[in-house]
Amino acid sequence: MDNLLNQSNFSCPHYPNTINFHFFRKTKLLFAVVIMLGIFLLFPLPSFSSDFLVSPPPKSMDKYYAEPGETSEWNAQMQKMGTAYSAIFVSLEKKKWHLAEKNAQFFLDSYEKASKMIPEWEEEFDLKAANTLKESILTKDMRGIGKASESIGKTCSHCHLKNNNSVWVRYYWPSTETIKVLDPLEEKEISYEDFMEKLSDSLKRISVNFTQNDIQQSWRSLDVFTKRIKSLRSVCSKCHVTEWTKSPVSVKDFFVGEDILNTLQEIKKDFATGEPSKKKFEKNIDYINKRSCKMCHLVHQPTAAIQRAWKQKN
Ligand code: HEC
Ligand code: HEC
Ligand code: HEC
Repeated sequence: MDNLLNQSNFSCPHYPNTINFHFFRKTKLLFAVVIMLGIFLLFPLPSFSSDFLVSPPPKSMDKYYAEPGETSEWNAQMQKMGTAYSAIFVSLEKKKWHLAEKNAQFFLDSYEKASKMIPEWEEEFDLKAANTLKESILTKDMRGIGKASESIGKTCSHCHLKNNNSVWVRYYWPSTETIKVLDPLEEKEISYEDFMEKLSDSLKRISVNFTQNDIQQSWRSLDVFTKRIKSLRSVCSKCHVTEWTKSPVSVKDFFVGEDILNTLQEIKKDFATGEPSKKKFEKNIDYINKRSCKMCHLVHQPTAAIQRAWKQKN
């Protein structure tokens, strides 16, 4: 984009007319680029250092996210602001300058309001550029519009990349620390972490006993493990409070679904033959490790780990 703005007009000595032609083409191109950047919110990506930190969001944000499950006031403001911003460029594309002016004012107001909602983030906003954007639209100055929207776009993407993950970890993910799981063997509720240790322990015992040719003990561990996996199914709804209503699929079909229980059943059947196959056994255990433990960890563990780190810091 800078290139486009800085290029000097090309003129051809033999065909003076081409000056106009090139100028026309370039203005049109500039127009198209500015509009595209605006409508599709193609923000220039800021760079962060490789030791990028996921820090907790500022405390003053808590009040906007006081109602879990509801759209927060902050997010509502963002949506309003984002819509006004896109509307500027859609209007410009249709050459409706009046509408563009109106939306630039909407945008300026909502951007200004957002900048005051979280004092710790005030510096992240570029109110000067937002004012320039409005002024440039008033004077139909495409170059000015391009420059101002580039600066504004940087503020959007910088803040989003830096802070969205933190906001999601803090306000969208319930903490595993508030959850108790019923251990079917000890018949008591234990912490999520302790339950994971026990689940892991019973899975390992299945394999260790099998390797030592102690099929009877392996069978017992298999029963214990099956009970624990079934107990884990009742935990999902503590966070997944609203099930998918438009689909017959339930979250419980993943990680703790019928396929896992069937695999455990297959191991048992093979044990019952009296001569279980090592190859089949390993294949089945591998399935459980990957499709239950690993996949669920890939989805749920990073957040839990970040929340844990934040808690230790405080
Ligand atoms: C100072 C930080 C900050 C700045 C600057 C900022 N945003 Fe955001 N924005 C956020 C955070 C944080 C979220 C995530 C909120 C959430 O998911 O609850 C967000 C979310 C959004 C969303 C998504 C709303 C949804 O439906 O989930 C839109 C759209 C948005 N911002 C537009 C913009 C635009 C356009 C700009 C620039 C003109 C901008 N934001 C500037 C912090 C910022
Ligand atoms: C500590 C809270 C918590 C627990 C417990 C939990 N989840 Fe999740 N899970 C989440 C959150 C938050 C997401 C992100 C998307 C969302 O909110 O649905 C998610 C995402 C998922 C996804 C990705 C797609 C989707 O539905 O959003 C699946 C599949 C899933 N979980 C399955 C499970 C299953 C199965 C269990 C129980 C064995 C479970 N989860 C237990 C919090 C939890
Ligand atoms: C519902 C999704 C889910 C399933 C299924 C699941 N885990 Fe976990 N597991 C978690 C989450 C989330 C944590 C992090 C808990 C925390 O830090 O609060 C965790 C933590 C652990 C931990 C402690 C941390 C570590 O990595 O050392 C172990 C061990 C563990 N899981 C083993 C297993 C094993 C073995 C299985 C498969 C039999 C399994 N888990 C299945 C979600 C799951």
